[in-house]
Amino acid sequence: MKIKTSILVLAFLASAKLFGQVTDNCVANLILSGYSERAYVSEPVTDQQLEMILKCGIKAPSGRNNQPWRFTVVRDEPAMKEAIGNVLTGNVLIIISGVESQTGTTPDFDCGLATESMFLAAHSLGLGARIYGGPVGNVSSKRELFQIPAGYKPVIILRIGNVDKTVDAVSAATPRKSAEEIVNYKK
Ligand SMILES: Cc1cc2nc3c(=O)[nH]c(=O)nc-3n(C[C@H](O)[C@H](O)[C@H](O)COP(=O)(O)O)c2cc1C
Repeated sequence: MKIKTSILVLAFLASAKLFGQVTDNCVANLILSGYSERAYVSEPVTDQQLEMILKCGIKAPSGRNNQPWRFTVVRDEPAMKEAIGNVLTGNVLIIISGVESQTGTTPDFDCGLATESMFLAAHSLGLGARIYGGPVGNVSSKRELFQIPAGYKPVIILRIGNVDKTVDAVSAATPRKSAEEIVNYKK
């Protein structure tokens, strides 16, 4: 019986590996098994977790190492709700803003890289995260409320929080296009 179970487990792992969902590499695993959480609980993100996530954003690469970004951390619920209606106390919003006037730079792209670094860092700490583009207008129209630094324009918002584990998010995971559809190899 034990041997049968072991064979089944090995077969599952082998097929998962073949389909690219499990590797021996923890970063690849994090990327391949991750998703953008929608359901959160109000257990707070700790200061230590937030500090690590911000460090990872600061370490992101940028064109000419310009680091053309500012990260505005919002933790108070009324302000968070002005941006995203269904946030909970204990969640954190990081508004990623790009420099407004610097010719020859790529602030939006660089802000995207910093956002992804923080998104992955949050997941690596066992937290949930979701990137929000839609509500950026809510922030841009209330720059003073959110204390967006002068000379910077909000590009994207990252929501971080503890995940509601009673919600089955895996079955609702967003599918991806196939490699055949996306990748072409120059012959
Ligand atoms: C630039 C960008 C903007 C996004 N804006 C929103 C948004 O406004 N609202 C939202 O619910 N999700 C938003 N998302 C999350 C995407 O819908 C999500 O990343 C995508 O569906 C893949 O989901 P998955 O990571 O769970 O597989 C955004 C993601 C990105 C990268």
